[in-house]
Amino acid sequence: MEMPSLTIGNITSRLPIIQGGMAVRISMAPLAAAVAEAGGIGVIAGSGLTADELRSEIRAARAETSGVIGVNIMVAVRNFAELAKAAIDERIDLVIAGAGFSRDVFDWTREAGIPMVPIVGSARVAILSEKFGAAAVVVEGGDAGGHLGTDVPVRQLLPGILEATSLPVIAAGNIVTGGDIRELLEAGAAGVQMGARFAATVESSAADAFKQMYLEATDEDVVIVRSPVGLPGRALRNPLTDRLEAGTEPRIERCIVCLKKCGKQFCIMDKLVKAHDGDVEDGLVFTGGGVARIHDIPTVKALMERLVAEYRAAGEMGTV
Ligand SMILES: Cc1cc2nc3c(=O)[nH]c(=O)nc-3n(C[C@H](O)[C@H](O)[C@H](O)COP(=O)(O)O)c2cc1C
Repeated sequence: MEMPSLTIGNITSRLPIIQGGMAVRISMAPLAAAVAEAGGIGVIAGSGLTADELRSEIRAARAETSGVIGVNIMVAVRNFAELAKAAIDERIDLVIAGAGFSRDVFDWTREAGIPMVPIVGSARVAILSEKFGAAAVVVEGGDAGGHLGTDVPVRQLLPGILEATSLPVIAAGNIVTGGDIRELLEAGAAGVQMGARFAATVESSAADAFKQMYLEATDEDVVIVRSPVGLPGRALRNPLTDRLEAGTEPRIERCIVCLKKCGKQFCIMDKLVKAHDGDVEDGLVFTGGGVARIHDIPTVKALMERLVAEYRAAGEMGTV
C-alpha cells in the first residue's frame, strides 16, 4: 500500500521518486536539497554550468540535507567530461546522463564506486547500458519534458525495456500525480523521474513568469521544437516557437560553443537561460507532457506529501 523505497547500486532513497535534472539552472541546490530532504532523489542539472558552479551547487545542497543528491549532465554538452569529473570529485551519490551516450563516464563512475544511470529511449540502449555497467536506467518516453529521444509514450515503452534488462527501470514522462506513480510502479517500474511537476514548485529556480506559464498551459499550448542538439524537445508555445515553426528566427549572432555538435537553428543555451530568467516570449520554456494537469506551485514538502497520499488513495480505490 505504501510507496516502496528505491535502490540504485549502493544508494537507497525512502521514496521511489527522482526529481529530473532540469537545465539551464532550473533544478539547482534548493530544489534538489528539498526533494532529497523529503525522501526522494534530488538532481542538480549540470548542463550550462561551469565545473566550479556545479561544485558549489553540490556543496550547497549537501549543506541542506543528508539525503540522496545526484547530477544530470547532457552528454551533448562540450564540457561533459569536466562536469562529470567535478561531480565525482565531490562524491555525488549518482550520475544521470542523457542526450547522447558516453562510454567513458561508465569507467569514471565505476572507479569511484558511484552509480551511473543513463537515460534511454529504446531497449537497444537499455541493453547497451547494462553491458557497460549501469546501475539503473531512466526510460524517458516521448511524453516527457525537455529533449526527447523517442516519440513513444513511456507507458508503451516500459514493457519492452523491462523485458530487455534486469536493471531497475525508472519511468519518466507525463507523471504528475501519486496515481500516475502507482500506475507506473504497478507496470513494473522501480521508480519514477518527474520533471515538469517539480519545475513548478517554490524551490525550483525558474522565474515566476516561467512557473506561471505552466499554470496557464493547456494541451494546445504544448509544441515540439527541433533543438540544435539534434533532438526534438517539448516546450510551451510562445513567440519564439512560432518563429521557429515559421522559419523566421534570426541567425545566431554569438556562439559560445557550448555543444559538441550544434545544428545552429538557434542558440539553445541563450534561449534556455532567457526562459529561466523569466523572458517567456523569447526564451525556450521546456515542459513535460502533463503540464496541463499542473495547477499550483507548492513547496516540495507539500508536493511530496500529496504524492504519497494520492499514491495511497489510488491503491485503496484499487484503480489508478
Ligand atoms: C524545464 C525542463 C528542463 C529539462 N532539462 C533536462 C536536462 O537538462 N537534462 C535531462 O536529461 N533532462 C532534462 N529534462 C527532462 C527531465 O529531467 C525529466 O526526465 C522529464 O521532464 C520527465 O517528464 P515530465 O516533465 O513529463 O515529468 C528537462 C525537463 C524540463 C521540463
